[in-house]
Amino acid sequence: MAKAMRPGILDERGIKFLGYAGKVSAQMPLFYNPAMQINRDMAVLLLKAWGEEELQVCDPLAGTGIRSLRFLKECAKQIRRVDANDVAPSFMASMKWNIKRNGVASSRISISSQEASVFLLQSSGYDYIEIDPFGSPNPFLDAAIRRLSRRGMLAVTATDTAALAGTYPAVCKRKYWADPLHQVWMHEVGVRILIRKVQLIASQYDRGLRPVLSYADQHYVRVFFRSQKGKSSADEVLALHGAWRGAGPMWLGDLWDESILRKMRVPNDWTDAARLIEVLHGEASVPIVGFHDIHDLASRHRQASLPRMDVMFARLKSKGYRAARTHFSGVGIRTDADEDVFIRLMQ
Ligand SMILES: C[S@@+](CC[C@H](N)C(=O)[O-])C[C@H]1O[C@@H](n2cnc3c(N)ncnc32)[C@H](O)[C@@H]1O
Repeated sequence: MAKAMRPGILDERGIKFLGYAGKVSAQMPLFYNPAMQINRDMAVLLLKAWGEEELQVCDPLAGTGIRSLRFLKECAKQIRRVDANDVAPSFMASMKWNIKRNGVASSRISISSQEASVFLLQSSGYDYIEIDPFGSPNPFLDAAIRRLSRRGMLAVTATDTAALAGTYPAVCKRKYWADPLHQVWMHEVGVRILIRKVQLIASQYDRGLRPVLSYADQHYVRVFFRSQKGKSSADEVLALHGAWRGAGPMWLGDLWDESILRKMRVPNDWTDAARLIEVLHGEASVPIVGFHDIHDLASRHRQASLPRMDVMFARLKSKGYRAARTHFSGVGIRTDADEDVFIRLMQ
């Protein structure tokens, strides 16, 4: 039998909590991945930028509970109460220690240890629900959408990127009802396929869910959706589903709401989040599906010399095209110039 792991005191953004250091795996008694700090940073920044107050928040797959603790400490003005839940057997005991250690008032947090969908369905609903599972969010979407308030926000993380980004197309088809793409656009297409899947579940309940912030990072994709209740909202969202480059169906609408990105104020030392938000902000100003990847185009068009990115931006802008870097590729440019124009400008 594996040696029993003992919890220690960890720290994230100044909050002390119980967890396990060392190799990250789903077998940890309380799951914590320090590399996902940016995922939690983005949620904190978005909740602050959203502009709503008195929010009822649900963290049904809470792991160590660090996300809930951060929400309560860092979004004190925005959040009235967080309900944190996880099936891990040691969750309740360690969360009690965390709550005491961090001086969280009992009126601001409740903790429980149930299956996440059961937990959600027994609740009276939330303004913000965070679905952060191992792998696919599919098992939790229905309950989360049913318990999301009329104009609530749903945050979804998916770590099964091998399916969404086309390594396993049959899995993508089975789980996300769409054909992925295993080319340079695979992560953007994966994000758009995930968005459509969430929107389809929502449309069953006459809800339109629109992404306000989407990105792919490391081994996961992440989308924050704002809900609008009503048949016409759902229909308007469904009208924006379609195929692109032979993949899909997928969401072909906007991936970002510029007005929210503009309000995201990043602390000076949160460099990863700052860099990501800066690029997303640029991308949001060019609301086009896909991008041109200089390496991919050079190889497909047998062009030996590659222009520098800044040179391409200057050429595109001098011809009146919009252009921005994309976080989906280090050598990608999101632009309204089509591929023929782009290739000519590369030469
Ligand atoms: C990726 S971890 C969550 C990490 C956490 N949100 C964070 O930010 O650190 C997924 C968590 O879901 C829990 N879990 C898995 N299946 C569950 C279920 N059906 N109901 C409730 N919790 C579940 C696991 O115990 C694990 O802690």
